Amino acid sequence: RNYKVASIPADGFGPEVVSAAIEVVQKLAEISKTFTIEFQHIPWGTAYYKQHGKYVEDNVLEVLRRYNAILFGSVGATDVPDHISLWGLLLAIRGPLQLYANVRPVRTFPGTLSRLRDTKSGAPDIDWVLVRENTEGEYSGHGGRSHRGQKWEVATEVAIFTYVGIERIMRFAFSVAQARPKKLLTVVTKSNSMRNGMVLWDGVALEVSRDFPDVKWDKMLVDAMTVRMVNSPGSLDTIVGTNLHMDILSDLAAALAGSLGIALSSNLDPTRKNPSLFEPVHGSAFDITGKGVANPVATIWSTAEMLGWLGEGEAKDTLMQAIENVCNAGVLTADLGGTANTKEVTQAICEELEKL
Ligand code: NAI
Ligand code: MG
Repeated sequence: RNYKVASIPADGFGPEVVSAAIEVVQKLAEISKTFTIEFQHIPWGTAYYKQHGKYVEDNVLEVLRRYNAILFGSVGATDVPDHISLWGLLLAIRGPLQLYANVRPVRTFPGTLSRLRDTKSGAPDIDWVLVRENTEGEYSGHGGRSHRGQKWEVATEVAIFTYVGIERIMRFAFSVAQARPKKLLTVVTKSNSMRNGMVLWDGVALEVSRDFPDVKWDKMLVDAMTVRMVNSPGSLDTIVGTNLHMDILSDLAAALAGSLGIALSSNLDPTRKNPSLFEPVHGSAFDITGKGVANPVATIWSTAEMLGWLGEGEAKDTLMQAIENVCNAGVLTADLGGTANTKEVTQAICEELEKL
């Protein structure tokens, strides 16, 4: 089997972690001999913006539909406002491609456990899948500003919730939960203070749950959810929530599991009409860009999820095993308390692949 993947490393240390991930995937392809994968570089990002006045080409959909999948690095620069760069690039892809299911697996590797607060109390490890609604809600982009620059300026940021949007993400989350051993789903809302969209969200959850009688599910208000994640991680398994809520909770989850450096995100079109996008959760990390010390695991794990989505389940499992073995052996970057650099971790994973 042959795959063509669009590589969009973009800004900051995106190119450093994306090239590390490509090196690992090519090593895996070479060893397994069951597939080949061609990464084609797409230069979209802040440098492209400075040259062309836009972050992406006009025909995003047409360009990206030529590929089986997309590997993305990170966007964001010190000299462009964040809302311009994020909307210009990442959100300009997620929307048109209708990548409505953002899946963020979070788990601790035994070798990095000392970073987890909860292990001190002997509580179970983290093994969660966070499902984030990725196309509407608080990040719909609707709203505006009037009387700009005046003391009486008014700005609105309108959250849009549609039955169709909620139903499809809820159905997706219930099936993710159903496929996991615990068959346990927690639906995150804020339906006390937000009395429209969040109440609809609750109603749709109840309705969809009837089609999944074997899935145990519960509801949590988002504020209380932060406490539960910290205090009793073992009581959670699959979690679904809105665009904003899961954006925040997934960073918390990453920190609890060790570091943002191992957090990844699959942006899926479950209908498979469009290519899905795989990326690390982190941004362009200005403080470590160019130093060669970034943790490449988030991006390497992204490519493992990509292989799984493309149907290469065996390759995915092998790669996950290699990542786990390397973490357990203590080959860790500074964010996980280790002393290895990007190159050393990448090298160690490649060598591990040769042994497996
Ligand atoms: P960030 O995720 O870039 O960095 C937060 C902190 O985590 C930094 O101290 C960084 O050094 C550390 N960190 C992140 N990834 C790491 C890795 N792989 N290895 C080791 N340490 C790592 O978030 P921040 O600083 O809020 O944003 C920087 C820029 O990135 C902004 O322009 C922001 O808009 C953008 N951004 C882009 C995202 C994306 O492309 N998906 C997501 C989040 C932020
Ligand atoms: Mg975020």
